[in-house]
Amino acid sequence: KKLAAFVSGGGSNFRSIQEATVRGSVHGDVVVLVTNKPDCGGAEFARDCGIPVILFPKIKDAPEGLSSTNLITSLRKFEVDIILLAGYLKLIPVELVRAYPRSILNIHPSLLPAFGGKGCFGMKVHKAVIASGARYSGPTIHFVDENYDTGRILAQRVVPVLANDTAEELAKRVLHEEHQLYVEVTAALCEEPL
Ligand code: GRF
Repeated sequence: KKLAAFVSGGGSNFRSIQEATVRGSVHGDVVVLVTNKPDCGGAEFARDCGIPVILFPKIKDAPEGLSSTNLITSLRKFEVDIILLAGYLKLIPVELVRAYPRSILNIHPSLLPAFGGKGCFGMKVHKAVIASGARYSGPTIHFVDENYDTGRILAQRVVPVLANDTAEELAKRVLHEEHQLYVEVTAALCEEPL
């Protein structure tokens, strides 16, 4: 299968999936990376791997940026089958959601439906988990629908919240599981529809 990764940050999930495609544990290839932050770590890694980088959404002073309709045309041109959101912090346009039914995945660093939704991302999630007194957290992978973090849940993994955890420590423990879980679910989706 042909995969597109959407990334706004460091891109460690993208990197683990890209590495899994290279060693053959995911039967797919990342053929394009889409980002709203052309200088982010994920985009840099893509360029190092020779993966084309598309800037989306179109931002001021970036003539190479794409509008929503052009993005779909462009993904079709790359023959993309599956879209993996990996720390992409923008809402996905509804046209794109409709163009790729049951083919867009997102990973979120909490056990959805808890600690999700608009504005709940990054360290804020882990701070909120710790403040709540929850004993467990962990990543969720879900299909993307027209809202933030509400699509059908495909997989979750539980990690403990330890006494005196900082948000950074919890984030690290969750991220470690994210890398494995995202590779597993992507591998499964490359074999058959979920
Ligand atoms: C991860 O915690 C993921 O759950 C969230 O954004 C973060 C991305 O991390 N959606 P990275 O860029 O893959 O390192």
